[in-house]
Amino acid sequence: MAKFQSTFVCQSCGHHSAKWLGKCSHCGAWNSFVEEVTEKVSSSATKAPSSLGLVNNHPKNINDVTPLTQKRIVFTDTELNRVLGGGLIPGSLVLFGGEPGIGKSTLMLQIALQNPDLKVLYVSGEESEEQIKTRADRIQTVIKGEVILYTETNINRVAEQAEKLQPDLIIVDSIQTMMHDHIESAPGTLSQIRECTNQLLKLSKGKGFPVFVIGHINKEGSLAGPKVLEHMVDTVLQFEGDRNHYYRIIRSIKNRFGSTNELGIYEMAEKGLQIVENPSQMLMSNRDEGFSGITITANMEGVRALFIETQALVSGAAYGNPQRSATGFDLRRMNMLLAVLEKKCGYKVGTEDVFLNITGGIKIEDPATDLAVLAAIVSSREDIPVPNDVCFAGEVGLSGEVRPVQKIDIRIKEAEKLGFKKIFVSKHSDSTHWKSFKSIKVIGVSKIEEVFLDLFT
Ligand code: TYD
Ligand code: MG
Repeated sequence: MAKFQSTFVCQSCGHHSAKWLGKCSHCGAWNSFVEEVTEKVSSSATKAPSSLGLVNNHPKNINDVTPLTQKRIVFTDTELNRVLGGGLIPGSLVLFGGEPGIGKSTLMLQIALQNPDLKVLYVSGEESEEQIKTRADRIQTVIKGEVILYTETNINRVAEQAEKLQPDLIIVDSIQTMMHDHIESAPGTLSQIRECTNQLLKLSKGKGFPVFVIGHINKEGSLAGPKVLEHMVDTVLQFEGDRNHYYRIIRSIKNRFGSTNELGIYEMAEKGLQIVENPSQMLMSNRDEGFSGITITANMEGVRALFIETQALVSGAAYGNPQRSATGFDLRRMNMLLAVLEKKCGYKVGTEDVFLNITGGIKIEDPATDLAVLAAIVSSREDIPVPNDVCFAGEVGLSGEVRPVQKIDIRIKEAEKLGFKKIFVSKHSDSTHWKSFKSIKVIGVSKIEEVFLDLFT
């Protein structure tokens, strides 16, 4: 007879405790302990690295190891290829996370349907075959690939079917609904998720099937719940965007086979997710002349220039402490920029409410955004609009100096292509051929005051 063991596991970090705790002593999460029953034999049977199903493992000289030469699977979806680093490496395990309703199942189904040369095993523990077929009819009238639907939540049976069917790609929707034979606790608990991911690792690393596994994001915005999942997989992609907006962005959080700087941009339409060909135009909302507090920043996301609108509102604080809020931009960085503005340029923003918004639900990390953010703030405060055909690309330092940013030529070239007439950059930018830009004026500045003098006086 199997022996059962009960233990309390923190759903946030995986810490075990013999009794229930209100606060995890390891990661500090509140109310995160769930009782999980595990079969004793299972714990010893699942220790890495044998869990990968690797055979003949012994130490080797690195010179004797042949590097991966397998060709990547290239999808018809160019945005997905881009975030994966040029396609999917065979035998890799990709976690695809996002909030409920954002479009994860839709995108995965689209991938299964669109690629003529792929035999795909689409495993769903969330929807019935009929529901999936209805969605398939909605997004794709002609099914190009060979798609095998399998509604199952038992991961062991999924593994059996995979071996039998030998698909080119396995999609599992979602990890939170899967359960493993050896684990007694409910689906979605940490030990289930860990064991099921282990099983998928065996399929990908051991047997060479590429696997996409969908994971839901929890309330706090991290991949639900366990961080453990992120360590086990090769690639973590996150599907972001505001459900009320049409735009969806895939961001790569971890990628063992490519860069994590790339973004994939889609639009949720009537017939599924459509690739956005010209993201900069989408992110600069239809701009009329004459609104103060709006500027355009020339950003880089990976190898691609992305022009994004920043909006600021500055007004006298109505009550007590002034309010500061930033959406899509780091609040601490905004506070730093405001301090620079006050100290170096004499704008008394310390007593005013400042709201900052990056359009399109995008989160910005490129430091080149600083200059556009400051210009938007001053534009709103002075109530003087920045002309439509002006954009910015510069990092701002603590003494108000405008610092050069990388790949400035690509940014300027894209600005010219989009019809901008003027771009503010750092004087020290590493560009050799500013003169070659005919229809855009490149203005090199060393201090932020120079920008404000040019625009607001
Ligand atoms: P879904 O893929 O079910 O989200 P997830 O798997 O991440 O939970 O997407 C659901 C939303 O997408 C739903 O609100 C309807 C919308 N949608 C469209 O707008 N167009 C479409 O063609 C499809 C299939 C869905
Ligand atoms: Mg879904």
